[in-house]
Amino acid sequence: MPTSNTPIDINQSIHPFVMVIFGATGDLTARKLMPALYNLLANGILPDNFLVVGFARRSLSHDQFRSMMKEAVVKYSKDQNINYRILLKLTNNLYYQQGFFEEITPYKEVVKHLLAFDKDRGACITRFFYLAAPPVNYPSILKNLLQSKLSEGCGQGSGRWTRVLIEKPFGKDMETAKKLEEQLSNTFTEKQIYRIDHYLAKEIVQNILAFRFANSIFENIWNKDHIDNIQISLMEAGGVGERGAFYEGVGVLKDVVQNHLMAMLAFTAMEQPKKLDVESIRTERVKVLQKIRRLTPGEIKANVVRGQYSSGALNGHKIHAYREEKNVDSASQTETFAALKLFIDNPRWQGIPIYLRTGKRMAKSVARISVQFKKVHNALFQNLPPDVERSHHDVLTFRIHPRPGISLQMLAKEPGLGFSLKNVKMDFSYENVFGMQTFDSYERLLLDSMIGDQTLFATNAGFNATWSLVTDILNVWGKESTPKFPNYKPGSWGPHEADLLIKKDGRYWLLH
Ligand code: BG6
Repeated sequence: MPTSNTPIDINQSIHPFVMVIFGATGDLTARKLMPALYNLLANGILPDNFLVVGFARRSLSHDQFRSMMKEAVVKYSKDQNINYRILLKLTNNLYYQQGFFEEITPYKEVVKHLLAFDKDRGACITRFFYLAAPPVNYPSILKNLLQSKLSEGCGQGSGRWTRVLIEKPFGKDMETAKKLEEQLSNTFTEKQIYRIDHYLAKEIVQNILAFRFANSIFENIWNKDHIDNIQISLMEAGGVGERGAFYEGVGVLKDVVQNHLMAMLAFTAMEQPKKLDVESIRTERVKVLQKIRRLTPGEIKANVVRGQYSSGALNGHKIHAYREEKNVDSASQTETFAALKLFIDNPRWQGIPIYLRTGKRMAKSVARISVQFKKVHNALFQNLPPDVERSHHDVLTFRIHPRPGISLQMLAKEPGLGFSLKNVKMDFSYENVFGMQTFDSYERLLLDSMIGDQTLFATNAGFNATWSLVTDILNVWGKESTPKFPNYKPGSWGPHEADLLIKKDGRYWLLH
């Protein structure tokens, strides 16, 4: 992150590079990584001198891999008018290495390939290893990166020339996360490790810091005395689709609560960092995560709701239940929905509930953070009509999507005689103000890793804090009798118990 108002000159900072993507035939590479590389290239940000090696099990020629990636860019790029000259430039730089993650031979092939690339350029080219494979393969990949000496770069014995980018889920509980971390830190130094949580790189999530600390209005009331509750939602209309094999046994808690929801929570609740630099921002993010109160088994039963979608019909189309999705067990217990209530034990937030809610097959795709301020009962405006009283006023919302922006809902006087009040909204939208010039989060993360800025990457300490919380929940669930799944309809906002969770506190979900 820049420390002042001066934007970074990106072109000056990105040097020729090689990126080896493990799991190159998977969903993430097609949906996110290739479109991001294409967009960076189309915007003149990537140097001409780069090489991407796709590494996966499937047997493919370089050309087959290139056409696969070409299709992916056309299908998934946000750019509707693909520039085929640029796309060709990208695909010409792609190579494929078939191999099983646990066998050393294909890594040795990659070594040869990269050394030839270095020789050709007459320099040690920076190497990125992107772990986009199913996480069970991470231990084998890391082991073989070390054994083949790929992790050392072009043989100068210095880690300066290599970086590793690692996708979540980072382990499957506290214990496996610790083991992975141990292996990672035996292979790379902390400066070389980029743990990905793409919510940290969402423009609007970062903007929470600017909003809170660059404006003098809100920071003074950003605390338990003025805020009633915070609601963080990541709702998705889509189901698990083609990702059943990945999702089975992972579930929403590990897929998005442990990371994305916690990223949103951290930026919303953290204290002001000393500076806008990597150390200060990461330190404050971690500190607040460490202050989230651990839940007792009793609290987990009362304050954490899980769900799984059933089959149903939406707009005349049959929707499969989660248990009917491809590669999903027909008696699966994997949760596709979770709602939970948390507290942060520090002077700023003591006693203020933070409600998190996320699920697949929801009524709409919406990701947002809403901060609801306490209602002030002013003698001037007593006995408000019930619809005004119940309306969501005094709510500040950070919209991650759709329509990224910030809005403030408040009461205003309706024109005319008397003092009739109406709920109105002040709205800032990125698109209206800045056009659509913001980086997609994967573009941003790739760029940051290339310029060596770790600010928007997760830390081991942060993951430890969130894994402790999630592992407590998983342990209690593991001991409970089989959940009554499926328990919510596609196109709804989750199971009824999620409504009760907040209703029993005399509150309601702001998104409904
Ligand atoms: C991914 C999860 O990390 O985040 C997906 O694996 C989820 O299951 C996705 O759909 C949500 O991200 P976004 O940016 O589309 O809101």
